[in-house]
Amino acid sequence: MNKALRRPLIAGNWKMNKTPTEAKELIADIVPAVKDADNCDIVICVPFIDLALAVDMTYQTNVKVGAQNVHFAPNGAYTGEISAAMLKELGVEYVIIGHSERRQYFGETDETVNLRVRAALDAGLKVILCVGENKDERLANITNEIVSKQTKLGLADVATEALANVIIAYEPVWAIGTGLTATPEQAEEVCSFIRRVIAEKYGTDTADKVIILYGGSMNAVNARDLLAKEDIDGGLIGGASLKAKDFSVIVSEANA
Ligand code: PGA
Repeated sequence: MNKALRRPLIAGNWKMNKTPTEAKELIADIVPAVKDADNCDIVICVPFIDLALAVDMTYQTNVKVGAQNVHFAPNGAYTGEISAAMLKELGVEYVIIGHSERRQYFGETDETVNLRVRAALDAGLKVILCVGENKDERLANITNEIVSKQTKLGLADVATEALANVIIAYEPVWAIGTGLTATPEQAEEVCSFIRRVIAEKYGTDTADKVIILYGGSMNAVNARDLLAKEDIDGGLIGGASLKAKDFSVIVSEANA
């Protein structure tokens, strides 16, 4: 099975939660709770202000650190922004790009997503590129069209060699933070479609190796069935990543 070619990945997306003091407590709980998970990659994507302490606290552990956004310019007059080189130098390994909340609230477009993806890859970061339809788009039966467009435009001018550092997160917007999870079958249908979209552009060998995550109210209870699906290689976890116990249960399901 092709799934065996891919190492599972569980990424926590803390969003705008946890002050440095709170982050210290949560990381101190997460690190020992997941330390025996050797068969999957574990990432915590924390607010910018918590990155330095997260990198320090996870040093020489199996927990990696990610940011939740990055600017596309290498440096310059962009007040309030953070560059890929800044993240890289800090010891950050991953960055979430194009999360639906950034698309919805901060004017992110497929074009700016693509600029960020390329800047992050050029700097040597691993990218978690988020795609997903909203409720109206699902009801209008244009889910495939939406995720295909977001995937293709997000990866415009990204070379085949760089795909080893690209992770796609399929996050149906209607399932994010709502407690409504896509069924394993719904999630699998779109994740396998995304893999076909990647195969069309990069070939099957490359597509078979790309890690595709599901995100949207994944939790300690529903993780097992979602992760069992052929094209779902892990999860991008919001709410449940803020509780060490829940996060570690999801990690152990991925690790099993
Ligand atoms: P959720 O968030 O798990 O709280 O639904 C997922 C995400 O937005 O990445």
